[in-house]
Amino acid sequence: MDETEIRSKLRTKLFGRELHIYEHIGSTNDAAKKLPPTVPEGTVVLAEEQTSGRGRLGRVWHSVKGESLTFSVVIKPDIRQSHLGIISLYASLAVAEGIKDSTGLQPECKWPNDVLVGGKKCCGILSEATFVRGRCEGIIVGIGLNVNQGDFPGELSRTATSLRQAAGARYDVGDILSVLLHHMEKNYPAVQDGRYEEIRTGWLRYAPMIGKTVTISTPGASCRGIARRIEENGELVLWHGGKEERFSSGDLTLRIEA
Ligand code: BTN
Repeated sequence: MDETEIRSKLRTKLFGRELHIYEHIGSTNDAAKKLPPTVPEGTVVLAEEQTSGRGRLGRVWHSVKGESLTFSVVIKPDIRQSHLGIISLYASLAVAEGIKDSTGLQPECKWPNDVLVGGKKCCGILSEATFVRGRCEGIIVGIGLNVNQGDFPGELSRTATSLRQAAGARYDVGDILSVLLHHMEKNYPAVQDGRYEEIRTGWLRYAPMIGKTVTISTPGASCRGIARRIEENGELVLWHGGKEERFSSGDLTLRIEA
């Protein structure tokens, strides 16, 4: 990845203006965590190849050099811990808008933080926040997007896809990064100013899962019900056993029934 070329594609004022590009790195989230606390908001760590990319729930995130987009963005919103779920919606909304702009595909957001195209996952998001005495010191929003992969190994081929597979065309990874950062920057004031309703409403436009039957699995149990709505803090409300149950994106997976 050529730094000058990437920089020349950026349309943002803040996001990506401080840019750290690595040819190989373990994980961009881990590299972002090591940056000094003084780094400006919107700082981006981008890797051509991650050697130990991390997913949610301790999973491995597979990516392919030159075919995937793997980056992390540092943000420092004044947000309460109880509202952290909004960050997942904020990031997946920006990715969905960016995919739609760049490819014409109709992406879908799957709570809490996946983006799908053609019913399969093309993007995963791992947000990691640091709170000190109840105050948010920073959040690292790690985004992994499958751009040009032609196929996926083994079991992944059933559930994963890339923009290329879904749209039948190859895309420039730098162009996609620029569009995603544009949407992250555009929507960020709503996060900073606590206008979470705007994020929630935007996200819902990409979320046909609301009203569908879903199963939420946590390490100890699973719960099947109807995905009723998203609360203002990003929690999912499930209608289950004649009552409502709230879930915050933590240690859980969600399966949507057809
Ligand atoms: C998931 O779906 O489980 C989340 C995957 C998040 C992957 C991205 S790639 C960039 C950043 N660095 C990491 O190690 N993980 C995130």
